[in-house]
Amino acid sequence: MESNTDKKKVIFSGIQPSGQLTLGNYLGAIKNWVALQDEFDCYFCVVDLHAITVKQEPKDLRQRTLEVLAIYIAAGIVPEKNTLFIQSHVPAHSECAWLLTCNSYMGELSRMTQYKDKSQRYGDSIGAGLFTYPVLMAADILLYNTDLVPVGQDQKQHLEIARDIANRFNNTYSPTFKIPDPYIPKVGAKVMSLQDPTKKMSKSDDNPNGYILIMDPPEVIRKKVSRAVTDSLGIINYSDDQPGVKNLLDLLIAINGSTPQDLVAYYKDKGYADLKKDVADAIVNELEPIQNKVNEILKDKKALEEIYKLGAEKANYISMKTLRKMQKKIGFIPRG
Ligand code: TYM
Repeated sequence: MESNTDKKKVIFSGIQPSGQLTLGNYLGAIKNWVALQDEFDCYFCVVDLHAITVKQEPKDLRQRTLEVLAIYIAAGIVPEKNTLFIQSHVPAHSECAWLLTCNSYMGELSRMTQYKDKSQRYGDSIGAGLFTYPVLMAADILLYNTDLVPVGQDQKQHLEIARDIANRFNNTYSPTFKIPDPYIPKVGAKVMSLQDPTKKMSKSDDNPNGYILIMDPPEVIRKKVSRAVTDSLGIINYSDDQPGVKNLLDLLIAINGSTPQDLVAYYKDKGYADLKKDVADAIVNELEPIQNKVNEILKDKKALEEIYKLGAEKANYISMKTLRKMQKKIGFIPRG
């Protein structure tokens, strides 16, 4: 049962089942998790408690939660080697989040850019959960004595506040939490929208042509890539002056491991249509086998249940140990 006996460093990461997953989620997170699973003791969670910070249709939430788990496995995360679980199955997350909320400041939470963006959009009717969301994320990470958190660039600020909250708790009481480091991949950390390459690709984008879903059928992927915004220069350079072209090249780099120099040389006498065709081929080749496996995995709900039950058991055991430590230090009476 003990997770740290082999003394591997601990990794924790998660994805919200709040919409269908995008190529950004895959390249910024899941693809790297697959590469890290042999070296680390990994916890990969489907963070459904985070998903309800915005309104969710219960039926869709149920279906997406299982689909996200199936995507983890189909992408190559081996259930026997890792702890795969659903956040709401491990009550310590909610309780730890409360204890940490009481050790967090309104000021630091209101400085989170994701919160600021959303509060601009929703005004006063923004949910309180969106405000305290980074504290729940800190709880997720800190409960497992996590060393590294593999995430895309957009989560960096949330990692920083998790570190601040951990340090504050350690200083107020006594050393309790390990201070986690972000692990942001060199490539794929910020996949941009195909329609506005100055914005990150996001599942909450109003325009579906801006994102590619992991489960988009090949013909849809090809259509979306062919409509990707480029520019009128007609040359293929890897430059911030050509954000659309750069984003397409970045996709090839993240998927095939090519380098910007090689790609620029290769496309010297070629046009945007050639580039788009190659990008679409690369994405389809990467995603199609995963899609087939996801559909297979989802057919056997019992087997999936076995996996998330086992994962929750292990996660419960480890997280309760941390939670009890916190309760004791705070001054709560042990249950005896
Ligand atoms: P979420 O669900 O928005 O995204 C999941 C992961 O995908 C990455 N990502 C991207 N990477 C590159 N390019 C993009 N366009 C792109 N879009 C998303 C994200 O950086 C993330 O790694 N708060 C987190 C979920 C979470 C979590 C945690 C993560 C909750 N608890 C504990 C790590 C550890 C979130 O909303 O991610």
